Amino acid sequence: MGVPPVTKPRATPDEAGSTGAAIVDRLTQLAAVSDEASGLTRLYLSPAHRKAADLVLEWMRDAGMSARIDAVGSVIGRYEADRPNARTLILGSHIDTVRNAGAYDGNLGVATAIEVVRRLHAEGRRAPFAIEVAAFGDEEGVRFPSTLGGSRALAGRFDPAILEERDAEGVSRREALIAFGCDPSRIAEEAHRPEDILGYVEAHIEQGPVLEAEDRPVGIVTAINGASRGEVKVTGESGHAGCVPMPLRRDALAAAATMVLAIESRAAAEPDLVATVGRLDIAHPAANTIPGNVTFTLDIRSPSDQARKAAVRDIADRIEEIARARGVAAQIHIGYEASACRSDADLSNALAAAVNRLGLAERRLPSGAGHDAMAFDGRIPFAMVFVRCRGGVSHNPTEYASPDDIDIGARALLDFIDHLAPASA
Ligand code: GLV
Ligand code: MN
Ligand code: MN
Repeated sequence: MGVPPVTKPRATPDEAGSTGAAIVDRLTQLAAVSDEASGLTRLYLSPAHRKAADLVLEWMRDAGMSARIDAVGSVIGRYEADRPNARTLILGSHIDTVRNAGAYDGNLGVATAIEVVRRLHAEGRRAPFAIEVAAFGDEEGVRFPSTLGGSRALAGRFDPAILEERDAEGVSRREALIAFGCDPSRIAEEAHRPEDILGYVEAHIEQGPVLEAEDRPVGIVTAINGASRGEVKVTGESGHAGCVPMPLRRDALAAAATMVLAIESRAAAEPDLVATVGRLDIAHPAANTIPGNVTFTLDIRSPSDQARKAAVRDIADRIEEIARARGVAAQIHIGYEASACRSDADLSNALAAAVNRLGLAERRLPSGAGHDAMAFDGRIPFAMVFVRCRGGVSHNPTEYASPDDIDIGARALLDFIDHLAPASA
C-alpha cells in the first residue's frame, strides 16, 4: 500500500478573508516543504527544515517583525511594544515533524502566531508588551535522542552535553547545527531572563478526541504529561536461519519482541500510563539470518512523575529478566526526561476568558503529547490553547483541523493579547 497523501489544508470559499483561511494558506505552503517526496517529513536541521525556516523568516518580516534564525535553529520574530522597556510575550510552536506527518502538528501554532501579529501590524496596532514568535525546530525528537533543544535554549535550560548526541547516520547535533548555519557556542546567549517575559503561549491541535467528542472547537490545557525516552540495544548472536536449532539460538529480535510485549503490558496495567516502542532496527536484516543485534526506542509517559519513574524501573527490570532468560545482553539508556507540568493559572484563565468572550464555554483538558511549552515550566509561565482535530488523529498524514476551528483559536489568541495587562503573569 502506498503512503496516503498528506491531507491538504484547504479553506472553503465562504471563509476566504478570515484569519483561519490565511493560516490554512500558510499551512498549505509549509506542508509542501518535505525531505521526502512521498509525504511530509521535516526532521530537525534537515534541508526541508532549512527551507521551512526561510519561509517562516520571510513571513515574519512581512508581518512587521524583525526576524532571525537563532543559535539552535529556531526562527525568532519580534514585534516591538508600544512603549520602551516593556516585557515580552512569547508565542510559538514547532516546524519540525515526525516521519510521514500531518500538516498541523506544531505548524498550526507557528502559522497562528504569525497571523495574529500580521493582523496587529495591518491594523497599525502594538501591544503594551513586545511579542516574540518562536518557530522551534526540535520538538519531535525524531532525529536525535533528546528533544526540546530550541525551547530549552530560550528558557535558559539547554544542556550543552546534548551537542554530542548523534543521529542514525552518525552526525552530531553540533555538526548538524554548524551545517545549518548556526553557531552552537552562542546557544547560552539565547536564554531569556524570566523577569523580562510575561509568559509563553502556544496554540496546538489537540491530537486527541476529547474536543471533537464534546463538539467544542477549542480547549485550554491544564497540564502536560511527563515523558522518558530512551533506547534499548539487544545483543544476541547472528547465525544461519537453516542450521542453528531453536534451543541453541540467541535471537535478538525474538528477545526484543518479548520485551516489547512486556512493555505494553506494564503500561496497560496502570491508568494514564502509556508506553510505546515506535522504532525497531535490526542490524544487517536478511530472511535467512537469525538477528544478532536489535535496537529499539522506548517512550513512557504519565501525568505522574512518580508513576512514570516507577514504570521505567519496572520495565528495565523486565528487560533484564527477559535478556537473561534468552541468553542475550540488553543495554538500556534513557536519554531524555521531561517532568509533568501544569499550565500557569493566570495565563490559562486569561485564555479561557478570551474563549468566553467569543461566546464559547471553556473546556479545560490535559495534554498527553509533549510540547515546547514544557521547556518553560518553573521558569516562565506558560499556557496553551488546543484546537479540535478530526478524529483526534495526529502523527498521521490524515491529520486535519477545520479552518473555522483554526479561526476561533486565532481569534481567542488575539483577544487574549488585547486584554493582557503589561505587568500581569
Ligand atoms: C510530540 O509530538 C510528542 O509528544 O512526542
Ligand atoms: Mn507538536
Ligand atoms: Mn508531534
